[in-house]
Amino acid sequence: MTSPSTMVAFSLSIVVTALAALAQAQTPNVSLLIDDPYYYDLAQSLDVRSLLPFVSLRKGAAFHWGSTYSYPAAAEANWTSEKFSTYWGHIVAENDCKWYATEPERQDFTLSACEGVSQYAAEHFATFRGHNTFWHNQLPAWLPGNVTASDLVNNVIPTHVSTVIKSLGWNVTSWDVTNELISDTATYNMTSLECVLNADRWPTVTYDGGSTPLVTNLSFAYAAWRTALMYDPGKLVYNDYSTGAQDAKTECVFQLIADLNINASIPYNRMGVGFQSHVGAQEGYYVPKAELETTFARLAALGVDALVTEMDLWIQANDTINQRYQAAIWGDYLDACLYASNCFEFVNWDNRDDTSWITPGDGHGVAMATLFDMYGNPKPVTYEIMARFARYAEGAAEMCATALGTESCTVY
Ligand code: G3I
Repeated sequence: MTSPSTMVAFSLSIVVTALAALAQAQTPNVSLLIDDPYYYDLAQSLDVRSLLPFVSLRKGAAFHWGSTYSYPAAAEANWTSEKFSTYWGHIVAENDCKWYATEPERQDFTLSACEGVSQYAAEHFATFRGHNTFWHNQLPAWLPGNVTASDLVNNVIPTHVSTVIKSLGWNVTSWDVTNELISDTATYNMTSLECVLNADRWPTVTYDGGSTPLVTNLSFAYAAWRTALMYDPGKLVYNDYSTGAQDAKTECVFQLIADLNINASIPYNRMGVGFQSHVGAQEGYYVPKAELETTFARLAALGVDALVTEMDLWIQANDTINQRYQAAIWGDYLDACLYASNCFEFVNWDNRDDTSWITPGDGHGVAMATLFDMYGNPKPVTYEIMARFARYAEGAAEMCATALGTESCTVY
């Protein structure tokens, strides 16, 4: 006879199996370019860099496709060097240009690591983008808390932003001038100041999440942007996560860039909006291509660039259906950028799964969120990206959104 505890365990296992099946059912079957033998063969070389001149020719301006690097050489130095010679042609410092790394003591700058990443890019005939001059996170120990509002706005920010930007010189495609100012719980109809105050982050409070106001207006952001405008010949970027859809946080981004345009006199044609795109291969955890395109087009109408700045894409399970879904979504993000008139930079965050900031067990499915696995081997998405570039370089018309699944989008 079956004991009650065995019955409970049996019922639980049915529930768990049913839930797992449900999760799998949410992962659609997708159609990929690499299902076509022509694109499959073409993608095998993974030599995206050889295609980039043709991509740029079609775009009418240089297209920058890249990933992160940390100075000095990574543990997998040969692998990394090979990938920045063949697959990626654009580099951003993962941490080395941030405030804690560049100005560890006030007015005592240590720019060698940041410049080292830029130098590494030059050695690989790759371009370089700057990340970042102002962020509430990864601050040096002497910040926050130890400065007054007026010192911060009139001295600390202008000195930091100008010194870091000047040290990298003229060969930078764009700088993230301010990073992640806007609240995750923003609502429609907030003013730009409300969008920022609602985040409860330094420097509108003395410490993140604190209750003591420090700066009560956007003067700190204006200071960063006005300084960057003086020294950065490239695009000046507002960079944030969980943006790009038609939602309140994205609406705040539009409020903020309008505010910077009016009150800090930043011309729209010098501005870009960076969509970090730390997303997941599950409905609701990524922005559908049509929504991305609507947002990019709205920026284009203002004369503002759109950039994908930090893409990674976790998956729910490490099986074929999820790996293909990952390829479809990443491909859609790339297509949204390629076929937009104002998108010239697409940067992926972390080069391989073993060095990703997203790790298994941290709440992002099984992670595996980068373009190469933990041994540096390519995945379906790695090839699909090469195929998308090839198709664009050939002059083909934009195709449907593959993440919608085969019911709605079959690509060949
Ligand atoms: O430098 C120390 C080292 O001395 C120490 O031994 C070690 C022990 O944990 O920590 C090292 O610092 C780490 C730092 O990266 C440099 O490696 C921090 O712990 C770690 O938290 C930090 O993580 C970075 C994270 O930003 C900080 O929020 C990630 O590498 C970096 O990928 C991530 O990047 C951010 C973007 O800048 C902005 N958008 C979100 C994105 C992902 O979080």
